[in-house]
Amino acid sequence: MKKTKKNNIEFFHKMIKEIYEQPEVVQRIIDEHIDMKNKRVLFKDFAISPKRISGIKRFILVGCGTSYHAALLGKYFLASCAGIESEAEYADEFAGRKARVDKDTLVIAISQSGKTGDEIKAARAAKKQKALVIAITNGIDSPLDRLSDYTIFNQAGQEQALAATKTFTSQILLLAAFAVFIGQNKKTANTKICSQFFKEIGQLPKKIAGILKQNVHFEILANKYCKSEGLLVLGKGFQFPLALEAALKIKESTYIHGEGFAASEFLHGPLAICNKNMPCLFFAPRDECFKELKAIIKRIKSLKRKALVFSSAGNRQLLKLADDVVFLPKTIDIFFPLLAIIPLQILAFHIALLRGVNPDKPRYLNKFVG
Ligand code: BG6
Repeated sequence: MKKTKKNNIEFFHKMIKEIYEQPEVVQRIIDEHIDMKNKRVLFKDFAISPKRISGIKRFILVGCGTSYHAALLGKYFLASCAGIESEAEYADEFAGRKARVDKDTLVIAISQSGKTGDEIKAARAAKKQKALVIAITNGIDSPLDRLSDYTIFNQAGQEQALAATKTFTSQILLLAAFAVFIGQNKKTANTKICSQFFKEIGQLPKKIAGILKQNVHFEILANKYCKSEGLLVLGKGFQFPLALEAALKIKESTYIHGEGFAASEFLHGPLAICNKNMPCLFFAPRDECFKELKAIIKRIKSLKRKALVFSSAGNRQLLKLADDVVFLPKTIDIFFPLLAIIPLQILAFHIALLRGVNPDKPRYLNKFVG
C-alpha cells in the first residue's frame, strides 16, 4: 500500500494525513486574516464598500453536506459574535424553492470544491436577484469563485480523501472570523466574545496538535464502538451543527448509521430508537448548556444505554457518569466545535479501518456532485 510521510509520521491513508494537517491549515488562516496587534480581522482586497456591508439587512448561508453544517454553525457565530440573526439553508432547497432575496441580502455560499452543482445554482439565483454573494471555498478559480462578488479561500491545500476534514475546520474558522469582521464593520460586535476570540485564536494550532497526539486513545475507542448498529449524536447550541457533522462523518466513513440531534429534541421522540447497540455520543463542553446535557446523559444511563461524552478538560464529574469521556483542551465556546470535530474525525477513520471500509473512497460517493 502506498504511504505518505509528513512530520516524520507515515500515513497509509489520505484521510488521516489530511486530519494531521489541521494545525498548519489553522495557522495559515490566522497568519492571513488576523491582525493580533489591532484586534482586527482582515480580508485582502475586500472590495465591497463599508456602506454596502452596513446596508445588509438579511444574511443567508448556503451549503451542501459538510459545507451545510459549516453554514449552520456560521449562523450561530453571526448571532454570538455580531449580534446578527441569519438563515442557513441547504443550497438546493434555497434554489429549488426559488427563495426571494434582494440587493440588501448577503448570501454566503460555502463549498469545499466550489464546483457543487446545487451550490452554483443557489449562488446564481442570488446573483440574478442582485444579492451580494460571498463565497467561502477551497476551489481557486472554481465556478463558485468566479461568479461570487468576493471569495474567501480556505487555503487548506488540496483535500483528496472523500470525507471533508481539514476543509471543514477551515470553513468554520473562517466563518467565525467573518462573523467578527461583520460585527466590527457593522459596529454590532459583541465586544466580550470578540476580545476572547483574539485571545484564543492563536492557541488553536497548539491545542489541535495536542489532540492529535491522543490518536491511540481514539483508536481504543474505535475498537469499543466499531460494532455499534448506530450512533446517536447530541449537541446543543454550537454543538448542534457539530452533532450533525459528526453523524455525517460516521455515516460516510464507516457505513454505521449516525444521526445528529439538537439535544433537547432527542427527547421528543428519537429516544425511542435508542437501544443497547446504539450508543449516544454527546458533545457537552462545560458551558451554559452543560446542566441540561448532564440531565440527558443521566437519563440515557438510567435506561442502561451507552454514553460517550466529548467535554472540556477537567470536567471530571463525567468520569462517574459516562462510559467513556474524551477531554478536549479548554477553549472559548465558539471554538469548541473546531477542537471537538478532530477526535471525531479520527474515531471515524479508525472505525472505517476496523470495518474494512476504505476511508479515502467509501462506496457510491464522490468528492463533489457537479
Ligand atoms: C458531497 C460530498 O457530494 O458534497 C460531501 O460527498 C460534501 O462530502 C458535499 O460535503 C458538498 O461539497 P462541497 O465541495 O460543495 O463542499
